[in-house]
Amino acid sequence: MLISNMSKTSKKSIILIGFMGAGKSTVGRALANLSGLPLVDLDALIVEQQGDTIPVIFADQGEPAFRRYETEALRSLSNTFPVILATGGGIVGHQENWQLMRRLGPVIYLRANWETLRSRLAGSTDRPLATAERGEADIKSLWLQRLPLYEQADLVVDTDGRKVDEVVHEVLSKAKF
Ligand code: S3P
Repeated sequence: MLISNMSKTSKKSIILIGFMGAGKSTVGRALANLSGLPLVDLDALIVEQQGDTIPVIFADQGEPAFRRYETEALRSLSNTFPVILATGGGIVGHQENWQLMRRLGPVIYLRANWETLRSRLAGSTDRPLATAERGEADIKSLWLQRLPLYEQADLVVDTDGRKVDEVVHEVLSKAKF
């Protein structure tokens, strides 16, 4: 079966990208369970490395500082063993991040339509760029701006209306794990 000796033979990580609410953490967790590879959540790594939550980093130091920490966290993974890496939605905005991600393994875009994302983001309180105060129109325009960047991924997997299991199997099959 596809996954039988994957964790023993794989030398590559799997990198998940996509907008906030695309399911990177959920799919990442399921991929990690199935593959035996550890899950690294880049946002959690930033929190660990910086000793502050993401809303606090944004509020106290601003988005540019967060982006620097994001790249630093990614860089800190360059000598790591293979992992399932769930990134933050804004990782695609800096060219250096693409180089760092591609060195680790295939970059996979978890694609979701606006309706899916909108409903998943409703009520989210820990995302400084998707707060209720920011408003839906602004969040949608950020998504639209980023779409061409996500499409630069090595592989694309659609998630709308699909179960986590289906998505996970398609990721593994497309990544030839
Ligand atoms: C961000 C997405 C968040 C987090 C930060 C910024 C973004 O991660 O990195 O709040 O710019 O899209 P998720 O995509 O996991 O929500």
